Amino acid sequence: MKVLIVTAHPNPESFNHAMLVSMVSGLESAGHEVKIKDLYAENFDPVLKAGDLAVLQTGEIPSRIQVEQEVLLWAEGLIFLYPLWWFDRPAILKGWFDVVFTNQVAFGFEGDSVKGLLKHKKALVVITAGGSEDYFENTDAMPLIHRPVTDGTLGFCGIDNVQHKIYFDVPGLSDNERKKILNEMVAIGQIF
Ligand SMILES: Cc1cc2nc3c(=O)[nH]c(=O)nc-3n(C[C@H](O)[C@H](O)[C@H](O)COP(=O)(O)O)c2cc1C
Repeated sequence: MKVLIVTAHPNPESFNHAMLVSMVSGLESAGHEVKIKDLYAENFDPVLKAGDLAVLQTGEIPSRIQVEQEVLLWAEGLIFLYPLWWFDRPAILKGWFDVVFTNQVAFGFEGDSVKGLLKHKKALVVITAGGSEDYFENTDAMPLIHRPVTDGTLGFCGIDNVQHKIYFDVPGLSDNERKKILNEMVAIGQIF
């Protein structure tokens, strides 16, 4: 399968980056074709500007957005890997959606109804969190994790086939627990 991984962590030494490396090796060993968008590493500009909007309103697509959308449309599978920041994705990833998931490419309208245009794609959302599973289970915070990306963005664009892997307490994990997660990242090659 053609797989696009979109990831957003500023530190190349982070556990998120170790997870990325394991994930890519598992996917490639399983025969998948992988492209990576490491948004911080490529200094992605996440701000949708007045000039971009003005061009989009004419029905054209600014060239910097076209480049991103070509990769999105190439992919049959999408993987999002990010640390939970304020119960949401890091702002740079939110901005990637602002810029790339435009009307007529990611979604459209039929009369009053929304039409998701990315229906045929499958997705996996991998999130690391600082909070404990107990905290998320025993407060009303758990649904917040799923609202922004899975429900609010992917669901709106017609992607219903979304799997999740959520890791809690990540800063406090032991070496063995980290190894177990890295093995799970390698195994993504088999489930995707
Ligand atoms: C700006 C910022 C906001 C954060 N917000 C949350 C949050 O809302 N909930 C949570 O459980 N952890 C939060 N964290 C903790 C990170 O999710 C956690 O440290 C990270 O997932 C660990 O992965 P890493 O070692 O690869 O950085 C936040 C961290 C930062 C820097």
